[in-house]
Amino acid sequence: MNGDTFVEMISEARIRRRIRTLARQLSRDYRGKVPVFIGVLNGSFIFFADLIREIRVDCEVDFFKLSSYGDAKISSGNVRLLKDLNCQVEGRDVVIVEDIVDSGLSMEYIRRLILHQNPASFKVVTLLYKPDSVKTDIRLDYVGFSIPKDFVIGYGLDYAQRERNLRAIYRLKG
Ligand code: IMP
Ligand code: MG
Repeated sequence: MNGDTFVEMISEARIRRRIRTLARQLSRDYRGKVPVFIGVLNGSFIFFADLIREIRVDCEVDFFKLSSYGDAKISSGNVRLLKDLNCQVEGRDVVIVEDIVDSGLSMEYIRRLILHQNPASFKVVTLLYKPDSVKTDIRLDYVGFSIPKDFVIGYGLDYAQRERNLRAIYRLKG
């Protein structure tokens, strides 16, 4: 796309296996509770749908929509809330579900927003994590894959809003 070359980084089968493991851990950790899983739109929608179907405890779902990137490949660092939650998180066990933590600024923004509303607990699941990009000391409780700083697409992640429908995860070759 746009003269850029992308190569496969994480296959569909590897993603599926890793999600099963994450879901097993979550189901064990939340046994006897009714957590609310909060997806961060748009990027997390596919991961969210696959993860939630592997969860074996009663749970609720809700969504945030944030914006920070525009159509660029580099974070502007300027996070805006485009859609707020519908549920009350006070006293609830909150699990944020993200596609990727890059600079960590979006997650920091979400953490502040949620903790302000006094949840019973707050945990974060992210499919991908770029440890070399992160600019905050955000705590990630469940990480699918730690990856290099490369720009990645597919499985919900976009390049200028496209490529979200790819079944595997690809990295920009550069
Ligand atoms: P952060 O605030 O810099 O951590 O970025 C968070 C958001 O930027 C993620 O939820 C993604 O939607 C998007 N993002 C970060 N890195 C990438 C990437 O490599 N490909 C596509 N989207 C990305
Ligand atoms: Mg995201």
